[in-house]
Amino acid sequence: MIFVTRKEHFNAAHKLYNPNWSKEKNEEVFGPCANENWHGHNFELIVTVKGTPDPDTGFVIDLKVLGKLIKSSIVDRLDHKNINLDVDFMKDKLASCEILVMEIWKILEKELAAQNSRAKLHRIKLVETPKNYVEYFG
Ligand code: NI
Repeated sequence: MIFVTRKEHFNAAHKLYNPNWSKEKNEEVFGPCANENWHGHNFELIVTVKGTPDPDTGFVIDLKVLGKLIKSSIVDRLDHKNINLDVDFMKDKLASCEILVMEIWKILEKELAAQNSRAKLHRIKLVETPKNYVEYFG
């Protein structure tokens, strides 16, 4: 089994806010991340797939193809957007990295299956700040 990784980048705004809570409770739990007027991050999206190399190409997946797929199905929908307001697949969801990475997984898993790719998702790592990142293994 070989693991192959592609890194992409996007900028997006969000706030952490639970609409079922008061403003005070949101501020208590989320601190500055609950700032009403949003804040932004330079996100790194690091997608690792696994599989065996195609005997004709030597590739588990063509990284150009994987890059285009991540761009068209994920990055184009998030880049320079407000995650809480603009992103259809995050509608009515908490805009945390944990929730976001799980939604990204669902989309990419479907896209890879639709392409009959020999590569399967292994890990998605979403880096929010130099100190904070989440990893999801499905
Ligand atoms: Ni944030």
